[in-house]
Amino acid sequence: MPAFPLEPFRIKVVEPIRTTDRAERERLMAECGYNVFLLKAEDVFIDLLTDSGTGAMSDAQWASIMRGDESYAGARSFYNLKEAVDRIFGFKHFVPTHQGRAAENVLFSVMLKPGDAVPNNMHFDTTYGNIVARGGRAENLIADVAADPYADTPFKGDMDVAKLERFIEQTGPERIPLGMITVTNNAGGGQPVSMANIRATAEVYHRYGIPFFIDACRYAENCYFIQQREPGYADRPLLEIANEMFSYADGCTMSAKKDAIVNIGGLLCLNDDDLFLRVQNELILREGFPTYGGLSGRDLEAMAVGLWEGLDARYLAYRIAHTRYLAERLREEGVPVVWPPGAHAVFIDARAVLPHVPQERFPAQAIVTALYIEGGIRTVELGSVTFAHRDPQTGAMVYPDLELVRLAIPRRVYTQRHLDYVVEVVKHTLDHADAIRGMRIVWEAPLMRHFTARFALVT
Ligand SMILES: Cc1ncc(COP(=O)(O)O)c(C=O)c1O
Repeated sequence: MPAFPLEPFRIKVVEPIRTTDRAERERLMAECGYNVFLLKAEDVFIDLLTDSGTGAMSDAQWASIMRGDESYAGARSFYNLKEAVDRIFGFKHFVPTHQGRAAENVLFSVMLKPGDAVPNNMHFDTTYGNIVARGGRAENLIADVAADPYADTPFKGDMDVAKLERFIEQTGPERIPLGMITVTNNAGGGQPVSMANIRATAEVYHRYGIPFFIDACRYAENCYFIQQREPGYADRPLLEIANEMFSYADGCTMSAKKDAIVNIGGLLCLNDDDLFLRVQNELILREGFPTYGGLSGRDLEAMAVGLWEGLDARYLAYRIAHTRYLAERLREEGVPVVWPPGAHAVFIDARAVLPHVPQERFPAQAIVTALYIEGGIRTVELGSVTFAHRDPQTGAMVYPDLELVRLAIPRRVYTQRHLDYVVEVVKHTLDHADAIRGMRIVWEAPLMRHFTARFALVT
């Protein structure tokens, strides 16, 4: 038997990828201010920037695109999507949005006032940004074990429920219009959250009368981990596990660009009738009519099909093993990777690789730069560029516990041989880690600076 499940698909369409030489990559990096978001994608050989919207759609999804109903209101494609959303998520209402952050924006615009707080196990950057941009406070209350990159525990994305309770007591439930949990926890290494923890989190929120929303981008991968790791779930079908997970919540936001394997799309689901009316009004103002929400009919069709494909047991077994293969190969080569690996990405612990580079010199960003120059691989920093912020009281910089380089794996795109190439490049780069001195920021935007900041190499 092979070491991990074979790809449960074969390749029907291919897209050539360009190779560049080192001198060209050095020039391209300098030209874009050492920010890989500003590179042209065609100058990238293996693109591990994100798993968001970068998956390969299936023949069934492409076929469904031809069936897209482009009617302005009440399109058949909306009802096809509704059937999948109702059966998987089970909330009373939903609207499509053009992506996850649009769902967040609509939700926060109707629920959040300046000075309010929103707790989460860990906010992703767009969630954090959307809360802060509205004058709110985004609070991370993840269990302490998440800060240890090597603690081999099955559900390292769990909320610290005692911390959550203390936070609500101190802040006052009237200042918390909603509470969240993110599954899986992208900002903390793509780690899953257990069903027991989701249940306990819901119980605390509800005891204080706080509506509970799940950030469900990678809910299917999280359900698979629950089935594999949590006692009592081994024989439960993934759909049932998803139904149970969402039954504890009052709603969810979802970027469909992840576990619905589409290139664009999102969802906002909720139970409350009055809130739904306000959401619809906001959606009409900002995104589009509630039966298309800023998408075309064909996008809704692809999402409806992709939601089922993303929850398929054979696909998820392959998906999680594919990612684990990369993590295991890197670990065999002595690369310090966050353990256990999550589903959508492998994370390199930049502080362990570059102990001589302090966080204010952005060690993870320096590794991202080095990997592109070495082998044309685009990865992303999830460390002090993305998450450091000023303390509102003292003005001092607060640095994140983890300083990570994320190698995100697009769904159904790269082969095992591509992953082997990634291992070779990472190993070669880290063999010369002593020469890496860090980066400094030359220009930055006030919010979500990582997308547009420009850097210089520290020599
Ligand atoms: C956990 C999480 N929440 C929200 C988002 C935002 O989704 P989108 O990029 O579709 O706006 C992302 C995207 O990466 C994410 O990982």
